[in-house]
Amino acid sequence: MKAIQIHEFGGPEVLKLEDAPRPEPNADEVLIKVFASGVNPVDWKIREGHAKGKFPVNFPLIPGWDVSGEIEEVGSDIVNFRKGDEVYSRPNPTRNGTYAEYVVVKATEVGKKPQSIDHEYAAAVPLAGLTAWQALFDHGQLEPGQKVLIHAAAGGVGTFAVQFAKWNRAYVIGTASEENIDFVKQLGADEVIDYKKEKFEDKVKDVDLVIDLVGGDTQKRSLQVLKNGGRLITTVKAENQEEAKAKNIHVEGFMAQSDPEDLEQIAQLIDSGKVKPIIAKILPLEKAAEAQKLSEEGHTRGKIVLKVV
Ligand SMILES: NC(=O)c1ccc[n+]([C@@H]2O[C@H](COP(=O)([O-])OP(=O)(O)OC[C@H]3O[C@@H](n4cnc5c(N)ncnc54)[C@H](OP(=O)(O)O)[C@@H]3O)[C@@H](O)[C@H]2O)c1
Repeated sequence: MKAIQIHEFGGPEVLKLEDAPRPEPNADEVLIKVFASGVNPVDWKIREGHAKGKFPVNFPLIPGWDVSGEIEEVGSDIVNFRKGDEVYSRPNPTRNGTYAEYVVVKATEVGKKPQSIDHEYAAAVPLAGLTAWQALFDHGQLEPGQKVLIHAAAGGVGTFAVQFAKWNRAYVIGTASEENIDFVKQLGADEVIDYKKEKFEDKVKDVDLVIDLVGGDTQKRSLQVLKNGGRLITTVKAENQEEAKAKNIHVEGFMAQSDPEDLEQIAQLIDSGKVKPIIAKILPLEKAAEAQKLSEEGHTRGKIVLKVV
């Protein structure tokens, strides 16, 4: 099969379009024919070697951990999927990914694709959508009527987080740069703060939940806006634990999981028109290096997707 592979850590130039063996599913796995693959920051982080010391990376590695496609083959234990089912998933990032014509995924990581959108749009959903969902509702415990501050609201995770939080009847404040202010408001945010021009900590207070998709100084300053007993959930490194404890704030980092129930909920919200994936750019598989370079610039509006078929 055709696949983008890396044989070493490095810059975008290590991404090579090659022939690779088509993988075969074990008893508890499915083989998915990939129609489209979402691009996420984790793709270039792993390519650059950020996974070193966290999990072993075997070369050649196929990057990409977001897929929409069709079941091609099922393992001997699988009863809930069959050939031809349209599915989407965030496969486990410690294994070969989705910049390829086929990918093997544990059946417990797969959900039925939203029916109302095509494969390119569906491939933009699993990783970012699951992350936003689990950050807000599992780790963040967001309740209707609460106030949530979402950093990087215009990005892959942020665009889903704003829409999910609004659907859950929260008061939503986002941070974005000037060119994305109206865009984030259109997604449903009640307020959007231009993080380049204004200090969010001067404008916001008594927040129940901060979703931190940026880290560093942004995470540290966020402690000032949370109310006593508030929560800060981050997708990057959780820091400032001592200061948070003194303020009775819960700070937690987490790794999103490909939970089929969450995938189903998200698919229902999309099919009922309440949530829509936002795509900045669709590129062909062979343009994976260009896609990762764009992602690495850190200013994607919504998602970048690779079209495989
Ligand atoms: N732990 C997990 O399971 C998990 C899962 C998903 C993602 N992540 C991580 O979470 C982070 C966000 O992921 P993503 O996919 O949403 O990234 P992304 O799509 O690349 O984010 C791009 C967005 O970030 C905004 N941005 C950049 N700097 C900002 C700042 N200082 N304040 C506010 N907004 C800022 C940009 O908005 P402007 O253009 O307006 O500046 C842009 O829209 C990444 O580090 C990723 O690796 C972790």
